[in-house]
Amino acid sequence: MSYVLEENDPEILGFINQELERQNTHLEMIASENFTFPSVMEAMGSVLTNKYAEGYPYKRYYGGCEFVDKIEELAINRAKKLFDCAFANVQPHAGSQANCAVYSALLKPYDKILGMDLSHGGHLTHGAKVSLTGQIYQSFFYGVELDGRINYDKVAETARIVKPNMIVCGFSAYSRKLDFARFKEIAESVGAILMADIAHVAGLVVAGEYPNPFPYADVVTTTTHKTLRGPRGGLILTNNEEYAKKIDKAVFPGMQGGPLMHVIAGKAVGFGENLKPEWKEYAKQVKSNAKVLAKVLMERNFKVVSDGTDNHLILLSLLDKKYSGKDADLALGNAGITANKNTVPGEMRSPFVTSGVRLGSPALTARGFKEAEFEIVANKIADILDDITNTQKQEKIKSELKELALKFPIYNKAIF
Ligand SMILES: Cc1ncc(COP(=O)(O)O)c(C=O)c1O
Repeated sequence: MSYVLEENDPEILGFINQELERQNTHLEMIASENFTFPSVMEAMGSVLTNKYAEGYPYKRYYGGCEFVDKIEELAINRAKKLFDCAFANVQPHAGSQANCAVYSALLKPYDKILGMDLSHGGHLTHGAKVSLTGQIYQSFFYGVELDGRINYDKVAETARIVKPNMIVCGFSAYSRKLDFARFKEIAESVGAILMADIAHVAGLVVAGEYPNPFPYADVVTTTTHKTLRGPRGGLILTNNEEYAKKIDKAVFPGMQGGPLMHVIAGKAVGFGENLKPEWKEYAKQVKSNAKVLAKVLMERNFKVVSDGTDNHLILLSLLDKKYSGKDADLALGNAGITANKNTVPGEMRSPFVTSGVRLGSPALTARGFKEAEFEIVANKIADILDDITNTQKQEKIKSELKELALKFPIYNKAIF
């Protein structure tokens, strides 16, 4: 296969090919990453990138939108079918924009948000002070107990004291089911709107493998690239017509200009994949693989936060070890396993060092890994961490894992 880039910009092509090689030969275990479908990549690399289409289908500020109108309409309809809800906005450029658009639609500056603490597994956009969401709005937080679980009585008590205008439930690092019904009860008790940010688990939700935030949440946001395996992007869903109108206005013209039509086409294609019966098998496998990971690591005497997982991720607590999350991340990286350091309940170290590692199963499952491969990988992780300063061992494991990875090719050279 030859590329225009070969002639035009070989420097960039070189790096793309190196990244392709990295993705093919390393074990991707960052819980928020995945391998999207080649069909999604085709749509994203198409002429749709050229088109300006400010507005919404059939109500645009530009001419020539007759085909992108159909594409956006398809994306909306597929999203509604997938999540079984009445309204969908597929335009947010990313999950962060989706969350900010909901806040700007339904809150006033200085209104109060109650979200999950960043260091307990929440996301920046749930009101963290370093995020605009913690500056425009007054933010308050709930967290997890030392056992790694949310204590709903404490959330209710905090809500009673704070009286938030909005409660945000959702996470970047929490391995247990969320009780959306309980969150709704708490939100109702203080007159707050409930927003569920299911960015991490949306792919499991649509397969019936994780609790559905509907009918409890007033608004649901998600990214489309994590467990959903679509293109990078955001999505907003609701059954409330009044909120839907406000959200549409908040996304455009409130926060964004022209929608990324090539990405919206990618979203439509991705949702099409999520609607296929095979998707349920994938989601089941993601969960089953994460459980194997947790089980083997616990058998090898590692502390898994909350002693297991209900979703696609596990949090390894290294509080009882002499090394940090940063050390572990580095050692795993040397052995070809890409993960990320993470704060854990009872954390004593800074967020740059941490005492934990977050590991996820979606990407390896996408390349075909099943329980047997996850058992191998979990044991290799334990081997590496049990002898963390042994760089020779890391090198050896790296070549063994590369061999394993190459038995499950994800992309070939014809696709980048
Ligand atoms: C729970 C949650 N919400 C929102 C986001 C933001 O997504 P994006 O990176 O697309 O802005 C993330 C990303 O990690 C997330 O984990």
